[in-house]
Amino acid sequence: MEDILCLNGRVALVTGAGQGVGRQVALDLAAHGCDCVIVNDYFDDRARAVCAEIEALGGKAVAAPGDVTRFEDVERWLTDAVTHAGGLDIVVNNAGNAGPQDDLSKLPVFWETGPADWANWLNVNLYGVLNVCRIAVPLILQRQAGGSIVNVISDAGRVGEPRLAVYSGAKAAASGFSRALAKELGRHRIRVNAVALSSVRTPGVAALLQDEEVVKRITRQYPLGRLGEPSDAANLILFLASNASAWITAQTYPVNGGYAVSS
Ligand SMILES: NC(=O)c1ccc[n+]([C@@H]2O[C@H](COP(=O)([O-])OP(=O)(O)OC[C@H]3O[C@@H](n4cnc5c(N)ncnc54)[C@H](O)[C@@H]3O)[C@@H](O)[C@H]2O)c1
Repeated sequence: MEDILCLNGRVALVTGAGQGVGRQVALDLAAHGCDCVIVNDYFDDRARAVCAEIEALGGKAVAAPGDVTRFEDVERWLTDAVTHAGGLDIVVNNAGNAGPQDDLSKLPVFWETGPADWANWLNVNLYGVLNVCRIAVPLILQRQAGGSIVNVISDAGRVGEPRLAVYSGAKAAASGFSRALAKELGRHRIRVNAVALSSVRTPGVAALLQDEEVVKRITRQYPLGRLGEPSDAANLILFLASNASAWITAQTYPVNGGYAVSS
């Protein structure tokens, strides 16, 4: 039976793909037939290790280590990688702070923080998305073959998370930006959507999830009774990246085990 994801002939970029959700997305894009996956990560060794995993499974990958928060850097590594890969059709803006590294209740509230604290959240979760989209869109347009951009946000950005106000704001901004960009790009058959994740077991949140009491408290919020796995997130991201979602744009979809705003 034909794979409804239809990724053959497509070249995809995944940012922050050295571990966690991004790694899973990169592996799955390759497994579903992408011609080439551009694997970005801040850490060179992580990006190369994921490329090696893809190649060991028979796929093609290009490592593009670099920081998404630095516009000139993004311009350099993304242009080089796309030249290597032969084009660009799909972008998954996944690089971001995974969330709190510690028990949320120990973090300061917004009015106890200042600009130096905000920069970290805003840079990677908002400016990283803007930087990559600004360089990627003209590269996708060059192919005149449509395309898809998926921006990974957080349920914090959808519903607001106390003690993560700036993270919530940055992710919400990325979601609003996605909707506006979708309207600009619709006539070129380039779709833009966002995926809002709740607690997904990744290295980024491993320290937080070491505490069984914290895990129990978080899990109680999910009707499905468990935390998410990287594949839970990757499945929807792949669907939105592929032509199977050809009539879906300007949307934000949660992947959250049924979490609702309850408190
Ligand atoms: N894991 C969760 O519970 C959770 C919840 C909500 C949202 N999210 C979002 O999902 C995405 C992936 O999260 P994860 O848990 O897989 O993260 P993770 O921390 O496990 O992995 C993120 C990867 O991105 C890379 N990265 C970070 N900053 C970068 C930068 N400036 N440039 C390039 N690469 C960079 C890191 O090196 C790392 O390899 C993030 O955008 C995060 O905000 C995650």
